[in-house]
Amino acid sequence: MKKPVRKAVFPVAGLGTRFLPATKAIPKEMLPLVDRPLLEHAVDEARAAGIEDFIFVTGRGKRAIEDHFDADWELYKTLQERGNTEALEAVRACEIGPGRLFYTRQQMPLGLGHAVWCAREVVGDDPFAVILPDDFVVADKPCLQQMVEAYQEVGGNIVAVVDVPRDQTQRYGILDVAADDGRLAVVAGLVEKPKPALAPSTLSIIGRYILQPEVMTHLGDIGRGAGGEIQLTDGMARLIGHQPFHGLRFSGTRYDCGSKVGFLEATLAHALTRPDMADQVRETLKRYS
Ligand code: UTP
Repeated sequence: MKKPVRKAVFPVAGLGTRFLPATKAIPKEMLPLVDRPLLEHAVDEARAAGIEDFIFVTGRGKRAIEDHFDADWELYKTLQERGNTEALEAVRACEIGPGRLFYTRQQMPLGLGHAVWCAREVVGDDPFAVILPDDFVVADKPCLQQMVEAYQEVGGNIVAVVDVPRDQTQRYGILDVAADDGRLAVVAGLVEKPKPALAPSTLSIIGRYILQPEVMTHLGDIGRGAGGEIQLTDGMARLIGHQPFHGLRFSGTRYDCGSKVGFLEATLAHALTRPDMADQVRETLKRYS
């Protein structure tokens, strides 16, 4: 019997240096795609996949995140008095139920693996998802939901993957593949940011993971890896051979909101999925082609 995935970790303690000065006082994860912060999109995706407990790993300068997901009774009252039900519904939709939201702190941005490890006490003995809000996925069925369905089939650990051009392997965690049915790849190894010539494949991991709690023990003792950071990839690599480990080619499109052009493209892609604005955006774009 596979334990269901009910917890998700959102590492949001990074410095967001590529978006400075915008991210000096505003967390990168609070930058909006149109009118909703990246992190809210990530929370929605988690909800759709059956996640009940939301664990945010925050750090210095991230207080806006706590305020955003909190109830704001003064604002609710004002919107109600003005009869602005649309806005009221929009702000209430970002609340997370009492006792379901957990904050833990990463005091120093030592890397993604370290950020995930900071959530170990809340994760406990349960399988958990990790969602990086700066990877935004447009899909008919939300990406994490596709992963949960794959988990129900094969269990263990699952990472969402996309094929990247070989000259870009140095930017991602890359799979070494033992077997591949075109949808699920059995993972034989993981390499963080390999040079194109050394990359064992071109399947790269995006910011969606389902992991078994044992990864926490490894993250606690792997030390620093590529770029001097404690890498999630290195911790996950230690699970291979001991637990099932698969890469899932999800259906949908991933946008890298950690880069400026990727963020812009994600904004457009999201806007074009919205019935309230898609036509207008399409018309506007014609002026730029
Ligand atoms: P990134 O490396 O894309 O984010 O990490 P960053 O370091 O904030 O951005 P740049 O490169 O300086 O512009 C992906 C996710 O992991 C989190 C980030 O907040 C982001 O959501 N992260 C990264 C942490 O929580 N802690 C870390 O030490 C590193």
